[in-house]
Amino acid sequence: MKFILRAAVFHFLVLYAVHVLAINIQSKPAFNDEGVIQVKLNDPVSLVCTLGVTKAEEELVWLRNDAAVLLKEGNNKNRSSLCVTPTYEDNGAKFTCHQKGNSTDQVSVTLDVTFAPNISETVEVTVEEEDDLVLECDTRANPLVSSVTWSLNGSLVDLLADGLSVINNGLTSQLTSSKVKKTLHGGMYTCTVDSPMYGSSSRHFQVTITDKTLKFPLGPMIAGLVVVGLTALLAVVSRWRKIVKCCK
Ligand SMILES: *[C@@H]1O[C@H](CO)[C@@H](O)[C@H](O)[C@H]1NC(C)=O
Ligand SMILES: *[C@@H]1O[C@H](CO)[C@@H](O)[C@H](O)[C@H]1NC(C)=O
Ligand SMILES: *[C@@H]1O[C@H](CO)[C@@H](O)[C@H](O)[C@H]1NC(C)=O
Ligand SMILES: *[C@@H]1O[C@H](CO)[C@@H](O)[C@H](O)[C@H]1NC(C)=O
Repeated sequence: MKFILRAAVFHFLVLYAVHVLAINIQSKPAFNDEGVIQVKLNDPVSLVCTLGVTKAEEELVWLRNDAAVLLKEGNNKNRSSLCVTPTYEDNGAKFTCHQKGNSTDQVSVTLDVTFAPNISETVEVTVEEEDDLVLECDTRANPLVSSVTWSLNGSLVDLLADGLSVINNGLTSQLTSSKVKKTLHGGMYTCTVDSPMYGSSSRHFQVTITDKTLKFPLGPMIAGLVVVGLTALLAVVSRWRKIVKCCK
């Protein structure tokens, strides 16, 4: 009996020692083995931090990437919950919970915020013949997009034949042409971006090429007038000198 009691007490002490320090995070949606919560942009995430058995009331703190999160009164005693509506900036953000004034024991989770590329609307573009054409699609997405394609009037653009170039830098895809021609370059352009998670999305550009207008070269014109004016003035001045001289 004594032995059993001692064993029970011992057992209790072991459990107590383990539990008293144990800090826990539960989340919805749940995190994976690496402590990563995958969530869609704007879908709320609930995080609850709890202490195991505590002798006294313990205060908890939350950090978001090492900056303290402001908690409401009472939402920090033994248990503390956070609700996060993830924005683009929350992608990769790390949330850590520990006891106030003692970060020896701490637990963290990281958000993996998924989002589709933002390219849905139709844009109208008007360019003058022989000017530059620049069309741009936002290709930022999480997970990364798997492909970007450009088409003109429904068929894939022929970069060489149409004198076009495409630059993808991971953030945007840019289709450019210098000196556009009405016959070659007018029409409906579409950039189509494929996401492994969100499927395909497209942005349309209705490109109208207008006749070249004669631009009045105001800059050179003014410079020209100034030169003419100065020359006339100098002529008068030099003649004036002559006139003055012969009057002596
Ligand atoms: C926190 O835990 C302690 C010890 O178990 C308890 O006395 C106290 O009432 C708890 N406080 C809250 C706000 O739950
Ligand atoms: C901080 O917490 C750890 C484990 O939770 C504990 O061992 C240590 O004594 C605590 N330090 C202070 C100063 O309370
Ligand atoms: C999506 O793109 C449009 C136009 O390019 C922009 O006005 C809007 O702010 C973008 N939305 C987000 C969430 O970035
Ligand atoms: C694309 O279609 C429009 C309207 O049908 C047409 O005016 C334009 O010439 C076409 N563009 C090309 C490059 O074929």
